[in-house]
Amino acid sequence: MIIDILTLFPESFSALDTSIIARAKKSGKIEINLINIRDFSSDKHKKCDDTPFGGGAGMLMTAQPIYDAVMSVKKENSKIILPSPSGKLFSAKKARELSENEHIIIICGHYEGIDQRIIDIFEPEEISIGDYVLTGGELPAMVIVDATLRFVEGVISKESLEEESFSSNLLEYPQYTRPQVFQGLEVPFVLTNGNHKEIANWQKEKAFEKTKKNRPDLLNWEER
Ligand code: ADE
Repeated sequence: MIIDILTLFPESFSALDTSIIARAKKSGKIEINLINIRDFSSDKHKKCDDTPFGGGAGMLMTAQPIYDAVMSVKKENSKIILPSPSGKLFSAKKARELSENEHIIIICGHYEGIDQRIIDIFEPEEISIGDYVLTGGELPAMVIVDATLRFVEGVISKESLEEESFSSNLLEYPQYTRPQVFQGLEVPFVLTNGNHKEIANWQKEKAFEKTKKNRPDLLNWEER
């Protein structure tokens, strides 16, 4: 999978150079390109923002640099995404769906947003990562990329995906590793006695308790 991220702030994406995503990049399973929208500005000062028609606070990103940046990478099968607080709410289901694409383009808005004509021309899928407003699309883009890449074949193990939160209607059960006693707290005996059936029952029970406490809405569940 290839992901082209269009942004005014490519330096914000260093988080994608660590851990599992870095390993997936190295292995060639995924390619992530950072494209600086400013490089496409035809303004002599490389300006990429302006005040909104009709008034209103703040600045908007102008259409021309974004349009040219998109056109420089767009292919017939490209899936175009615009992180936006007014988009549809992101979910594990959406991440899995996005992971089926060969080519994704993410347009990162900044300031008060982008000129509507970019949305009218490219009809990107607008995705929100939650009901709050961030200063730009960079952090949401990283969230979307990270969650999506976990579903790309070979990036993490199939077992991990099956066991984790949101793969069923239950959140993940508590987990422990060595040492067996830490600060006087012992690993639950059932996890150490080697009885796989009892372990599975305990995990299911704990997952249910946790879901009931933190996300009771998930218990009336449809795939998310
Ligand atoms: N840009 C600003 N806030 C956002 C949000 N909550 N989700 C996606 N993109 C955003």
